[in-house]
Parts: sequence; structure tokens; C-alpha cells
Amino acid sequence: MPTILITGANRGLGLEFARQYAAEGWRVLATVRDPSKGRAVSEAGAEVHLCDVADFGSVARLESTLKGVSLDILLNNAGVYGEHQDFGSLDADEFLRVMRVNALAPLKVAEAFANHLTGRKIIAAVSSKMGSISDSNSGGSYAYRASKSALNMLIRTLAVDLAGRGVTTVALSPGWVRTDMGGPSAPLDAASAVAGLCKVLEGLKPADSGGFFHWDGSRVPW
Ligand SMILES: NC(=O)c1ccc[n+]([C@@H]2O[C@H](COP(=O)([O-])OP(=O)(O)OC[C@H]3O[C@@H](n4cnc5c(N)ncnc54)[C@H](OP(=O)(O)O)[C@@H]3O)[C@@H](O)[C@H]2O)c1
Repeated sequence: MPTILITGANRGLGLEFARQYAAEGWRVLATVRDPSKGRAVSEAGAEVHLCDVADFGSVARLESTLKGVSLDILLNNAGVYGEHQDFGSLDADEFLRVMRVNALAPLKVAEAFANHLTGRKIIAAVSSKMGSISDSNSGGSYAYRASKSALNMLIRTLAVDLAGRGVTTVALSPGWVRTDMGGPSAPLDAASAVAGLCKVLEGLKPADSGGFFHWDGSRVPW
């Protein structure tokens, strides 16, 4: 049975990824920060594990719990938007928190689980078009944008470092989606965005490693 590990899977896109992979017959290992919030993803058919990705001790404990478990896909989905990040009112600690969760944590999770990869051998990270430097014309959201740009670079660098092990690493853009983060005005529903991204993951070839893919399968400019 193919296996996927999904971080931040108690709500939003992570929960929808868990639902869709479980419905396709995958073994889904879903992480939540708060055990009391694991019910929906457990009911979707996933095995629920605890992990705060910003706490690297928590990441190490998860790896230890899953020792010997093989993963086809490691999906770094957990992320935060952050507050107080407009020019003139930047909060430095908040900036660093967003960078830690969105950029550094996926790298630490990849370090912890790279040796678990087998079969498809994919490391994916849910990034954002807001991290695209060439597509950035709207200003604001300094921490979020910078964290996703950093994540994109980390994914591309991992692609080089892990090529010898046959690992394919990609950054994913879900579009603007109706979740707690995306808000009610977003044009896309989570089911459509995730269905598109699952199709992207399904069709990945080794030559795609280091790429940045939108949910509709198109490439996102860096
Ligand atoms: N929605 C959009 O329009 C959109 C667009 C582009 C990219 N994205 C990206 O897609 C991913 C999922 O976003 P979403 O829209 O589903 O957001 P969401 O509804 O706010 O859900 C975020 C998830 O991340 C988890 N999380 C946050 N900090 C964490 C930490 N330190 N450790 C472990 N889990 C943590 C949350 O857990 P708790 O419930 O415990 O907080 C929650 O499960 C994020 O990386 C986001 O940046 C979203």
C-alpha cells in the first residue's frame, strides 16, 4: 500500500489531502499539533500522529515513532500566514516565527524523513504564488512572501542534494483556496485545488525535480 505523510492535516488543505489519498486506498499518516483536533482526519481514514513542525524535538519524536515505516510521499503542508507584516508595522519575532514554520520546518522534516522514502520517493512542499519573486506586484505580507520564496529555494536545493538518492522534490501552488487561511472570498474550494495537486504529484517524473507547480499542472515562474 503506498504511504504518504502529511503535516498540518487537521484542517484546510492538509485535511483534504488526507481525505483524497485515503479514498484512493493510500496509507495516510497525518500529523496534528493538538490531539483533540484529530477527529476529522481520523474519520477520513488517516492514522493520526502528533507533530509541531516548528519544534524540532517534536519532529524527531515523530521520526522515532515512525522508525521503519516507508514513505512514498512526504508532504510538507503545515503553514502559517502570520500577523503584523506590513511595511512600517513589522514584528520581528512574528517574522521569524513565520520563517521557522514555513521554510525551516519543511527542511528539518525532510532531513528527518529522507531515509524513509521508497517507491515514488517524493518530497513536496505546499508553497504559494506569493513566494514567486517574478510574479510579485502587490506588496505587503513580507514574512509570508519571504518564507515561501525561501521554501522554494530550499526545495530546489534539496532536489540537487537528493538527486543521487532518486528523490524528486517539488514546490506546489494550490491557488487561492477557501480555508481558514485563504478566507471565504477565495475562488477555489479545497477539494478542487487538492485534486489538481494530487494529479500533479501522480504525474511527476524525476526530470520535474526542483520544479514549482500550480494546481492546474502549469509551472509557476520563480
Ligand atoms: N489557502 C490558500 O489560499 C493557500 C494558498 C497558497 C498556499 N497555501 C499553503 O497551503 C498550506 C495549508 O494552508 P491552509 O489554507 O490549509 O491553512 P489553514 O487552514 O490555516 O491550515 C494550516 C494547517 O497548518 C497547521 N500548522 C500551523 N502551524 C503548524 C506547526 N507549527 N506545526 C504543525 N502544524 C502547523 C495548522 O494546525 P493547527 O490547526 O494546529 O493550527 C493547520 O492544520 C500552507 O502551507 C499555506 O501556506 C494556502
